[in-house]
Amino acid sequence: MKQGRLLAFEGLDGCGKSTQVAALARALRNAGHEVLDTREPTDGPAGRRIRALARSGEIVAPELELRWFVEDRRAHVAAVIHPALESGRLVLTDRYYLSTVAYQGARGLDPVQILRDSEAEFPLPDLALLFEIEPEVALERVGGRGQPLDAAFEQREFLERVAANYRALDRPYLARIDARRPEDAVHAAVVGCVRERLGLL
Ligand code: TYD
Repeated sequence: MKQGRLLAFEGLDGCGKSTQVAALARALRNAGHEVLDTREPTDGPAGRRIRALARSGEIVAPELELRWFVEDRRAHVAAVIHPALESGRLVLTDRYYLSTVAYQGARGLDPVQILRDSEAEFPLPDLALLFEIEPEVALERVGGRGQPLDAAFEQREFLERVAANYRALDRPYLARIDARRPEDAVHAAVVGCVRERLGLL
């Protein structure tokens, strides 16, 4: 049976990972690979519910938030990721379970437990690229400005915790990319990493 590879793109909002998913997908296709690029939260029912919630600004209990992200991922893996891997494709996903570890961990849940449960249930990525930027840069890029100071402060504190959870990760499949550089320099680093770790490109 042909076995595909799973590449996850991770990092703070505004770290540039979506641009990098597109650039790597293009490079891999040009090299003749069959690529499926996808993202979480998905466009399926659970993902749409998560996005609607985010837009409304309503805060739900962390446990409920966790359940929704996991539900969304379960459907995503079953309907999209698993079949694509089975058919031998390279799957690029913009966010995967390390986002849950970092973000729902930052909402007060235990990141170690989330990681353990995720690895027990979902296929491990062959490579998880973590795009590192400072939380201040993330805030500037996603526009934390124009909102009340206390909200901006809360958002900053939250992102600091997310960043700390990402920093604490130590997995054999994890590679850190310095994402403070210009887009093409980051892309070159991604290509180098994919070449070295997976022998692709
Ligand atoms: P994001 O990648 O920013 O999607 P988009 O730019 O299309 O809206 O993800 C949306 C938010 O969801 C982001 O702030 C991170 C958060 N998130 C979690 O909190 N947990 C998760 O498991 C995932 C996948 C995302």
